[in-house]
Amino acid sequence: MAIHTVATSPYPGQRPGTSGLRKKVAVFSQPNYLENFVQSVFDTLGDASGKTLVLGGDGRFHNRAAVRVILRMAAAHGFARVLVGQGGILSTPAVSCVIRKHGALGGIVLSASHNPGGPEGDFGIKYNIANGGPAPESYTEEFFHRSESIAQYRISDAPEIDIDRVGKTRIEEMDVEVIDPVGDYAELMQQLFDFAIIRQLFGSGFRMCFDAMSAVSGPYAKAILEGMLGAPAGTVINAVPLEDFGGHHPDPNPVNAAQLIELMAAPDAPHFGAASDGDADRNMIVGRKFEVTPSDSLAILAANADVAPGYKDGLKGIARSMPTSRAADRVAESLGIPCYETPTGWKYFGNLLDAGKATLCGEESYGTGSSHIREKDGLWAVLFWLNLLAVQRQPVEQIVAEHWVRFGRHYYSRHDYENIVADNAHMLMEDLRIKLPYLPGQQLGHYTVASADDFEYTDPVDGSLARQQGIRIIMTDGSRIIYRLSGTGTEGATLRVYLERYEADTTQHRIPTQQALAGLIAIADSVASIVMHTGRSNPSVIT
Ligand code: G6P
Ligand code: ZN
Repeated sequence: MAIHTVATSPYPGQRPGTSGLRKKVAVFSQPNYLENFVQSVFDTLGDASGKTLVLGGDGRFHNRAAVRVILRMAAAHGFARVLVGQGGILSTPAVSCVIRKHGALGGIVLSASHNPGGPEGDFGIKYNIANGGPAPESYTEEFFHRSESIAQYRISDAPEIDIDRVGKTRIEEMDVEVIDPVGDYAELMQQLFDFAIIRQLFGSGFRMCFDAMSAVSGPYAKAILEGMLGAPAGTVINAVPLEDFGGHHPDPNPVNAAQLIELMAAPDAPHFGAASDGDADRNMIVGRKFEVTPSDSLAILAANADVAPGYKDGLKGIARSMPTSRAADRVAESLGIPCYETPTGWKYFGNLLDAGKATLCGEESYGTGSSHIREKDGLWAVLFWLNLLAVQRQPVEQIVAEHWVRFGRHYYSRHDYENIVADNAHMLMEDLRIKLPYLPGQQLGHYTVASADDFEYTDPVDGSLARQQGIRIIMTDGSRIIYRLSGTGTEGATLRVYLERYEADTTQHRIPTQQALAGLIAIADSVASIVMHTGRSNPSVIT
């Protein structure tokens, strides 16, 4: 075994986006592409002697090949130990959990989250720091900066080690511990939720369907739901992680999780349904013929948090991303706790969680989580709902309806225009920015504009400023239209238009969502000239 220094030259464009560096597999397969980025990360981290690194991914195509390379590079960089998930598997929340539990310096997550996998699909790599959360921009910019001038990387020529068997081996001076990917995570879930009462629920004939979408949540959901909580075998569907996710688009929304939605509408539908994404950090919650919006889910969990042992002492605060509906704000107000509004991206919650300012966090993009780790957590949200259902013994729809009666309903929808020409998308945003100062006071349809701005966020903990985080048009009745360009796509640009309308009147709580929002949808189109800029008369996805 020997460590080699290999000459290389920079690849342009290795700047991590909202959630790490995501590119087509073909891009990652270029000679030294992965090596360049990993070396840039290691160089940024500096001395690794005595330190532990966590490594694993969602099992998509290229996962195994990347694990092999990174293990040999970590040994060359001088890490004392790498904890790698068996088979190279670790969900994003599990990486966060393992980093925290074992006091690691950080971890590498191999995933492109919900983006399609397979040889033609996407691959991704993300670095998480010692608190278990995604590296902040100060790190990711440094990774990028170093990648622009990289001239060499270091790698051990150690023979391939078996990552399919739990146990310890060595590469150079580094211990490689292949760990059960589920163990530490399951133990943490047991501390947070009342497993006994959930077991009773399943024992009473309660049925659920968890759609793992052939991605990494499968092994976790099977071990916890079917193994520890006594849910009948077959509760978890599409449970085996596949390199191409079985052709699924592993992004849980009603469009992509069509199989689950159909099942939940059948006459003998289970009582409760849920799905998770490629790397298991997202969640979708459904009842019989009923979909819970992620914004409502956050608000409902916050309002009922004391059902779960891990949250029985109350919440310190709630945080939501700016485009997420304000349903959680009302709950925070009634609990007398603060509600923080952050830019899109889970990393913005990190400081609030570390500082003990927030306990629960959520995003409209099917992300919910808490201070237990520093990533959003799909199965955690499902277990929280199960704990709530076990205590309340009511259908999902009734729990939501009663929440609306208590707090009012925030009608909410997101319209996506995917894969549009990037220049046109930027032009649309620029045109909107120019209009902003003239919008307040204008009458648009039945609404009057109260304020219009480009969202800026000053982190209350470290004072850092994030600018241009989404254009907001806020009406006098609190309704909102928000425009943002996605930071996670790999093809063209995606325009997201977020629509929200508050309705206090309980007799008006059962209007179909798109109908309830029709007035705002029309305004959103006309103010931003969406059809003209994108050439599309309809969104490609509505959530
Ligand atoms: C990832 C991030 C989330 C973010 C989501 C949508 O899942 O972890 O925090 O909300 O992407 O991002 P986008 O930029 O595509 O709207
Ligand atoms: Zn994800």
